[in-house]
Amino acid sequence: MKIINTLNILSEISSTFSGNNMLHQQRVAVIAFSLAKELKLSKPEQSILFQAGLIHDIGILHEFDAEENLRMIMENKFWPLHQHAAVSAKISRVLNLDNRVTEAVELHHYAKKHNPSLYGRILFLSDSIEVSYRSLSNKYAFNVIFDFLKQKAKFFDEKAFSAFKNISEKEHFWFSLADDTLSFTIENIIDELGDEDADARFSKAVSYLIAHISDSRSSYLHGYSLLNKNLAAALAYKFDVDMEKIKTAALIAHAGNVMVPTELVDSMHTLEVMEKNIIKSHTYYTNIFLKRIGFDNDIVRWASYHHENISGTGYPFKISNFDTGAKILQISTIVAALLQDRAYRKKYDKNSIVKIIEELTDNKIVDKSIACYAKTINFNNIIDVKDEYYSAIESKFSSPA
Ligand SMILES: [Fe+2]
Ligand SMILES: [Fe+2]
Ligand SMILES: [Fe+2]
Repeated sequence: MKIINTLNILSEISSTFSGNNMLHQQRVAVIAFSLAKELKLSKPEQSILFQAGLIHDIGILHEFDAEENLRMIMENKFWPLHQHAAVSAKISRVLNLDNRVTEAVELHHYAKKHNPSLYGRILFLSDSIEVSYRSLSNKYAFNVIFDFLKQKAKFFDEKAFSAFKNISEKEHFWFSLADDTLSFTIENIIDELGDEDADARFSKAVSYLIAHISDSRSSYLHGYSLLNKNLAAALAYKFDVDMEKIKTAALIAHAGNVMVPTELVDSMHTLEVMEKNIIKSHTYYTNIFLKRIGFDNDIVRWASYHHENISGTGYPFKISNFDTGAKILQISTIVAALLQDRAYRKKYDKNSIVKIIEELTDNKIVDKSIACYAKTINFNNIIDVKDEYYSAIESKFSSPA
């Protein structure tokens, strides 16, 4: 797992979640990098600004109103935006990123007068440039952006703004921001900056962030990945499976939930075929996100196969021969769901869950020996298992600035 590559994917996951323009954070990152380069900042400083851009709005998760945010930026009302910036900075700290990344993120909505950080001022300008770019009716109409922002020049760092003047005259800068070229631009920048291997602290934070984001898809999913992790661990204890890997796989198995609209997760009615297909896609997106992040192969496989079954009639890969880790996760995700309320049903009690597991065993959906052991687990004990790290991440997103 590499740091910048992972931040790039986290930016996609968090933007997709909040219905924010999926490319906003990525585009801000490219703009901030380009300004840093034009300002002849060192490579490590360019990297700091690029990283900060990628996650600067991750704290928006629970308070997002895209139109309202855009309106506030356009009307130069920055203070209501400080709260999400402070939350994003907390997440930057959890990820153990360079202090200067956190500083830039924290100050990305402070105008020049109140912004003591050069990185913060560059990010502030980059955000304004992206917002203006995004509001263009045609991506080739970029010539108007410099003149438009010039009217607001008093808010911007002078040197950064004159660097913007220089790069805004080069068409390739604008072309590099377009929806269809942006991922190539980002790949190139990562190549140019170089990427470092993540340490254990970063990887752990990423797993828990994914768990938090996917569990936030619906109020019904609150605590779901944690429950899944604890159930999977209880099952793995009896079988020969790497404990840390299975815990991580359970935490991140629902990364793809961000691709499923909340209305569908919360739907009270019987879903139509197309709606079911959308729900089914979550495991496919989990597979893509986790592979791109570079999680261990076992973890990716176990997490991605949690809706496959041993008769080959699961989804979305329709495979039947998968290993013990995946079989454990298949059962733990079923039981974890049954232990929670859903929009269309109440949670199940132990006896009903045991009956369901027996039916699944008889129908050759789940592995017999794992199912047998699952029936003996005291689910109440599992529900009560606390995880301070999970709670800490949750509180970072919910606590006021
Ligand atoms: Fe922001
Ligand atoms: Fe932003
Ligand atoms: Fe699932």
